[in-house]
Order: sequence, then structure tokens, then C-alpha cells
Amino acid sequence: MYNGKVIICDDEVEILRYLSKILSAKGLELEVFSSGTSLMSVMENRGMDDVDLMLLDVKMPDVDGLEILQRVKRMKLEVPVVMMTAYASINSAIEAMKLGAYDYVTKPFPKEKIFGILEKVLERRELLKENSALKDELGIPSGATPLIFASETFRRVHDMAMLVAQSESNVVILGESGTGKELIASLIHNNSPRAKERFLTINCAALSDTLLESQLFGHVKGAFTGAINAQKGLLEAANHGTLFLDEVGDMSPAIQAKLLRVLQEGDFIPVGDTKARSVDIRFVAATNKDLEEEVREKRFREDLFFRLNVISLHLPPLRDRGEDIELLARHFLTKYAARMKREITDFTREAMQLLKSYNWPGNIRELENAIERAAILTRGNTITAETLPVWRTAQVPEPKQNGGKRLVSLETIEREHILHVLKASGNNKSRAAKILEIARRTLDRKIEEYGLEDEGIR
Ligand SMILES: Nc1ncnc2c1ncn2[C@@H]1O[C@H](COP(=O)(O)OP(=O)(O)OP(=O)(O)O)[C@@H](O)[C@H]1O
Ligand SMILES: [Mg+2]
Repeated sequence: MYNGKVIICDDEVEILRYLSKILSAKGLELEVFSSGTSLMSVMENRGMDDVDLMLLDVKMPDVDGLEILQRVKRMKLEVPVVMMTAYASINSAIEAMKLGAYDYVTKPFPKEKIFGILEKVLERRELLKENSALKDELGIPSGATPLIFASETFRRVHDMAMLVAQSESNVVILGESGTGKELIASLIHNNSPRAKERFLTINCAALSDTLLESQLFGHVKGAFTGAINAQKGLLEAANHGTLFLDEVGDMSPAIQAKLLRVLQEGDFIPVGDTKARSVDIRFVAATNKDLEEEVREKRFREDLFFRLNVISLHLPPLRDRGEDIELLARHFLTKYAARMKREITDFTREAMQLLKSYNWPGNIRELENAIERAAILTRGNTITAETLPVWRTAQVPEPKQNGGKRLVSLETIEREHILHVLKASGNNKSRAAKILEIARRTLDRKIEEYGLEDEGIR
């Protein structure tokens, strides 16, 4: 027997009847709704504080389960929501979990399934009560993303970032997408003398020129059509703090010229204004483009490059940080298991092997998404290989390393592999030759043949 209250909402009368029967037999108090609309109006009017569990059908004709779930989250109601989906719509189950559902069941389900969930939910109710009392006592802060790493490769960059943080120099952070550029930028700010001031971010690739300009510099009333009110720019808002210019490699020449002035003169003029305002800002910029190449190709101003690039940090891709994969995977598992209030604590050996052997073109962001998805799909308390999105791709050997489907020649692969090994061995040709199991002279020849000098190999 259980002690608690459950809400059931489904447009199928059969399901309502079935659930009512098995749940009331266990002594639970029930409230049954046959449409989303009726549940919504009750929710708005009286809240859900006394409810221990909501069982919602995903597909309903008027207001569907996902909408109700979203409303629950927006109203910040504590009640755990379990979605019932048809087997075919596993994607909506995943979406539901992302939106913060507690769990999902696929129809048809045996009653033990529901009882299992109920037990967890009721146990959790008790735990939450204790936890919130504990947290209040300890005053545990939530927030700041921790930086996870163990590899020497990343430690060097990290130490450098901490050192750089102390100075007032501008910094450029280079690295493939998802390697942690933004996280490092905030680390730099948080450990700098400006830590108490603001850290603001602008994405230079996401905005049109006009918008980027007015966001950065601000504008006076009537500066252009639509400028009904004066607006302060980020430069002004970030004064004394740090401004993070994300995707700086995508900034147009016009904006580059305007920004250069800020870096050279320490002042700027809002759009439509005539008077300059001085500012004191530390700039941290990031890009996944090869900025030096952009300068060579005259797409990025050299003078701006030198002003920004006082120090540059190069974040290694995840595939070059082998030791960190397991650590990061466990970190994300803890994070998402906690968020979903599920007890998933480990990976099968096969799953971990797979994570380590995949080459992660999307880097840490891709790994994080993979773990989140796997945590949602895993039923037990161990992540299995089948729940990993990389599982299927790993079954088919990929023609090209970075995940592309392009079919390429053996030569291309050889060239790429040699380059990869050379970079990984820190440009040490003897070591690279050993790894490749070829003579040093052969390596020299191939470097010349493949024009690898142009890739920075000497
Ligand atoms: N060392 C780390 N430890 C824990 N989490 C990390 C680490 N590095 C990155 N992450 C996480 O990985 C995700 C991607 O990081 P971030 O957004 O900083 O990358 P990025 O290089 O700016 O990516 P993009 O080029 O796609 O904008 C974020 O969710 C971030 O919190
Ligand atoms: Mg980023």
C-alpha cells in the first residue's frame, strides 16, 4: 500500500480505467482528467502542492502532455511528471526528459513499471524534504561550471590561462567548436583583478552588422529607423569588466575598424552620437577559425589582430585529450543523473571503450549531449553502449576522421594521419617516425611530398 496522490491525464478512456484500477487498489488518492485543457485549468487555479506524481499522455488532441509539462516547469511546480508515450514516439520521450520530465513509460506497460516509478517518487519525496533542510543549513551555492581535466595537454592551457588572467592583456582563445572556449574565457575573467566587475558576451557571428554595431556601441534616440529609444551598448555596460567577443573571426571589416578604435584609443562613439566616451575593458576573443590565416587572406585586420592577440591560448580538441574523456563523461553523467533525479552511476566497459575510441568532432559539447541523451535512454543504473549516439556510427568504419561522409583516397588519409601524428608528437619528427613505424628519411620525404611544411610542420 502507498500513501500519496496521483494525477492521471489521458484522452484514452481505456488507459484511464486501467490506471485507476491498479492505482486505487494500492490505496492511492487519484484525480483523473480526460483532456489537457481541464487539467491545465485546475493546475492554474489551485497549484499542485499536494500532488505526488503526474502521469501524462504525450499525445492528446487539445493540449498535449509536453505543453502541460512545460507549464509545470514554468510555474516551477515541484511535482514529478511521468510521460506515457506510444512506442513509436521515442523522440517525444527524449524531448520530455530534456524538458525536465521525471521519467517516461512506453505503452503498453505492465503495472509493475508504474509501481516501480511510484516507489522511487515517494522515496524521493522523503529525501527531498531532508535534503532541502540540509542545504539550508550548509548554504551550498549552486552555479559556476567546474572545469574538468586531468591531461597534461589541457593542464598546460589551463595554467597559462590562470597566469594570463592576472595580467590586463587581451587574449585570443582558439580552438575547434565545443572545446571550451567560452568556459576558459569566464575562467580568465573570474580569476582576474576584474572578477568583481561584469563579464559580458557577444556573439559576432549571430548578428547582422547593424545589430552587432548597435549592440556593441549603443545608439542614441533616432539614430536609425526603429531606434525609438537610446540604448546603451555592451562596451558601456562592460566598462571596467571583461567583454568576450565570441566568433570574432566572423566580424565584418566595417565593425573591425570601429572596434580597433576602442582598442587603440580606449573610447567609442555610440551610433548617431558625436561625442566619444572612454572605456576601460579587457577583451577576450574566441574563434574556431584560423585567425592568422584570416589575416593572411586579408579578411581580418592585422592591426586589430595584434591588439587582441597579445596572448593566444589554443584549446586542444577532445581527441587529443584521451585521459579526459572518461573524467568528463563521468562528470556529465553525475550532472544529468542528478538533474533527472535518477540513480545512474556507471558505464559498461563497452560503453566507456566506445566513448574513448570515438574521435569527437564536436568535442566536449558533443560528448555532453551524448551523455545527456544516454542518461535519458538508459533504464537501469548503468549506461550501455547501445544508448550512445556514437554506437551506430562506430559500427560502420568512417571514411574520414572528422565524421564526414566524404569518400577519400588512401593518400588523403595518409597525409592526414601523418599530420595528426606530427602534431600529437609536438612536431618531433623522430618520435613521429617511430610511432608511424617508418624511417625518419621516409617521413621527411612524405612531409615534402604532401606539402606539410605549409601546415606549420618544419
Ligand atoms: N573542461 C571542461 N569541464 C567541464 N565542462 C566543460 C569543459 N570544457 C567545456 N565544457 C562544457 O562543454 C560545453 C562547450 O563548451 P564551450 O561553450 O565553452 O565551448 P566553445 O569552444 O565556446 O564552443 P563553440 O565553439 O561551439 O561556441 C559547455 O557546456 C561547457 O560547459
Ligand atoms: Mg562558444
